[in-house]
Parts: sequence; C-alpha cells; structure tokens
Amino acid sequence: MKLAVAGGTGTVGAHVVEVARERGHEVVVLSRSAGVDLVTGTGLSDALSGVDAVVDVASTQTLSAKESTAFFSAVTRNLLTAEGAAGVGHHLALSIVGIDEAPHGYYAGKVKQESLVRAGAVPWTILRATQFHEFAAQIRSQTSFGPLTVIPRMLSQPIAAREVAERLIDLAERSPSGRVADLGGPREERMVEMVRRYALAIGARCSVLEVPIPGAYGRAMRDGTLVTSAGADHGTQTFEDWAAAQSR
Ligand SMILES: NC(=O)c1ccc[n+]([C@@H]2O[C@H](COP(=O)([O-])OP(=O)(O)OC[C@H]3O[C@@H](n4cnc5c(N)ncnc54)[C@H](OP(=O)(O)O)[C@@H]3O)[C@@H](O)[C@H]2O)c1
Repeated sequence: MKLAVAGGTGTVGAHVVEVARERGHEVVVLSRSAGVDLVTGTGLSDALSGVDAVVDVASTQTLSAKESTAFFSAVTRNLLTAEGAAGVGHHLALSIVGIDEAPHGYYAGKVKQESLVRAGAVPWTILRATQFHEFAAQIRSQTSFGPLTVIPRMLSQPIAAREVAERLIDLAERSPSGRVADLGGPREERMVEMVRRYALAIGARCSVLEVPIPGAYGRAMRDGTLVTSAGADHGTQTFEDWAAAQSR
C-alpha cells in the first residue's frame, strides 16, 4: 500500500512511518519539514498522488481551545479536500480517549477534528488513544521553568507511542471502520509521578510540583475522564519499562 502520514515526523508519527516501512508499505510524509504545510495546504495535492490511505497524526502544541480548533479544522478540511480530489479511499485519524466529556482547551480541537472526519466524504476510521508514555517528556518540556517543573494534577493510563503506531497501521491495512475500540496503556498513573520517574531516568535535576488546574478542563484531567472504559484494548509496555529504556 501507499500511505501518507500527516505529522510523520512527530512523536507518534515517526513510529507510524517506521512501522509502515517495516511492513513493506510505501510512505509519504506530510509535514512542514517534508515540504507540506497542512494548515495552508501548500504541497498537499502533489503529495497525495497514488496514496491509498492517509494516517493523520499531525498536532500543534497549545492549551488554547481557539488555537487548537483553528489548527485541527484547517488541517482536517485541507486533508479531506485533497484526499477527495486525489481519490484516496481511507482517512484515519488519531484522537484522544475521553474528549467528549472534556471538550476544553486542546481537546476542543480534537472534538472538532472528529466531527469533520465523521461528516466528510472520505471513508474514515477514528482511533482514540490515551496519553503516550512520551507525553511525560512533552509536558515536561512545556512546563519547566529553570529547575522547577509544574505538572497538572492528572490521572492518565499511558501507552507506548510505538504500540499506538502498530494499531494505526493495522487499521490502515483494513477497510475504513468508523470509530474503533479505544486503546489505552496497561496501568493508570499520576502524571506527576510519570514526570518524576522520567526526569530521574534521564538524569535531569529538577523539582516537580503538582498543581490542580481550575475549571472543567482541570477536573477532566484529574477525575479519570481521560482513562479507558470497558471495551477498550490495552497495550503491554508499562510506563516504568519505557522510562527505564530512556536511561539506556
Ligand atoms: N501526545 C500524546 O500523548 C497523544 C495521545 C493520544 C493522541 N494524541 C494525538 O496524536 C497526534 C500526534 O500527536 P504527537 O504528540 O505525536 O504530535 P507531535 O509530536 O507534536 O508532532 C506533530 C507533528 O505535526 C506536524 N505539523 C505541525 N504543524 C504542521 C503543519 N502546519 N503542517 C504540516 N505538519 C505539521 C509536525 O511536523 P513539522 O513540525 O515538521 O511540520 C509533527 O510531525 C495528535 O493528533 C494528538 O492529538 C497524542
């Protein structure tokens, strides 16, 4: 198959590209560093020539609902329009567990993304996953001020980005399936403990402070909204094992 990976240079996207190539698929990367801007649409139509399926794992780093919604709206509309013109038969989007109950901040953009995919003319699959193990590193880089790291009070069920990528390629190899079973990690963890363990594993010296985020967004982070419910599938690599591997 020929697959296009929107955001193929990102945290999960790099794994998606790697897994697809390991399985013998031809891969086109859609990212700014590969010459494609998904927000403006520059370079997109040429890149989709002959593509069977698009896996969308593009993202933007923001906590603002307005910015997130603008990003995911533009990216999804541009992808679906270009896919329609190029005759792509499958649009596969990666979303996040629990966003219906937490349509705030960054998650507002994910809710909009899902609604555009569902309403679009390209046959689709949506997979929702929990936070990646790698999220501990992502959030730490965004919330560190000198030696102090401030982490929201958050209950997560982290999963290896590699395992999410494997599931995405399994799905890309099948027919469009609509909303499929959610995918979560093997255990629930507190984000503050994940960040502390990660910092220890990479030998970083810092104080990690946990703070409750006010409002509905913060409540959803800490009350279990973002972990899986019955019927979900689960990855196998624990956060502990992933963090230990980072120190090697
Ligand atoms: N992180 C998590 O824990 C987690 C958990 C569940 C689901 N998800 C979902 O998984 C997806 C990927 O997240 P991630 O954390 O892997 O993202 P990430 O590491 O931030 O990577 C973002 C990717 O998007 C690309 N990108 C950003 N702006 C672009 C633009 N204007 N045009 C083209 N490409 C652009 C980036 O490449 P360039 O900079 O080269 O353009 C990069 O490849 C998102 O949909 C996210 O909601 C994430």
